[in-house]
Amino acid sequence: MKKITIAIDGFSSTGKSTLAKQLAKQLEYVYVDTGAMYRAVAYFAMQNQYIGADFFDKKALIEALPKIQLEFKFNADLGFAEMYLNGENVEKPIRTIEVSSFVSKVAEVSEVRSKLVEQQQEMGTNKAIVMDGRDIGTVVFPDAELKIFMTATAETRAQRRFDELQQKGDNVTYEEVLKNVQERDYLDTHREDSPLVIAKDAIEIDNSYLSKEEQFQVVLELVEDIV
Ligand code: C5P
Repeated sequence: MKKITIAIDGFSSTGKSTLAKQLAKQLEYVYVDTGAMYRAVAYFAMQNQYIGADFFDKKALIEALPKIQLEFKFNADLGFAEMYLNGENVEKPIRTIEVSSFVSKVAEVSEVRSKLVEQQQEMGTNKAIVMDGRDIGTVVFPDAELKIFMTATAETRAQRRFDELQQKGDNVTYEEVLKNVQERDYLDTHREDSPLVIAKDAIEIDNSYLSKEEQFQVVLELVEDIV
C-alpha cells in the first residue's frame, strides 16, 4: 500500500485532532498536532512575560526563538504523542483558555511560523503522516495527496470545547469559550502570513451534524480511493 500525506485543516474545535488520531491509528501513520506547537510557543511567551492581557513584546519573543525546543514524544498508554517544551511535558498547560486567548496573536508572527513550518516539513519527509492545523494543505504540504478542510458552526464548536474544558475541571463559561472561538476564527482568517483558507484541492467536510464515527468512515473511504 502506498504511503501518503494527509493534511487536515479547519477552524478551531472542528474535531480535526479526533479525526486525525483515528486515521493515524487505523493506517499506522504518525499524527502531528501543529496547534500544540503554536500553543507551546504561546505558553513560553506567557511564562517569560512576553505576552499578557494588554501587551505583546514580539521582538523579545523573536529573539528568544532559538531557545525554544519543541518535541513530540509518543505516550504508549494514551496512544498518541505529547508536546514537550524544552524537555518539559506541557500537554496540560497549553490547553487552558488563557493560552487559547494568546495563541492566535503568537501564530501571526512570521518568524514563529517559519520556525514551526520547517520542523513540520521535516517530520513529513517520509510521508505516512496525518497533520492537522490551519495551513497544512496550503503551506506545509501543498502536495499532500489528501487534503481535508473541516467546518462546523461556531456555536457547535464552542459547545464541544466548553464540554471538554468542563470535564477537565476548567472554570469557564460557555460565553467565554464562544467569544474565544470567534476571536480566533477572525485572527486566523485575517492574518497576513498563511491565513486559514481552504486549499483549492481540499475536500470540505461540515461535521455539525456528523458523528465522529460517520466522519471517520467518510474520510477513510477517501483514503482508500488513493492508497
Ligand atoms: O488547533 P488548535 O486550536 O489547538 O490551534 C491553536 C491556534 O494555533 C490556532 O487558533 C491558530 O492561531 C494557531 N495555528 C496556526 N497554524 C497551525 C496550527 C495552529 O496558526 N498550523
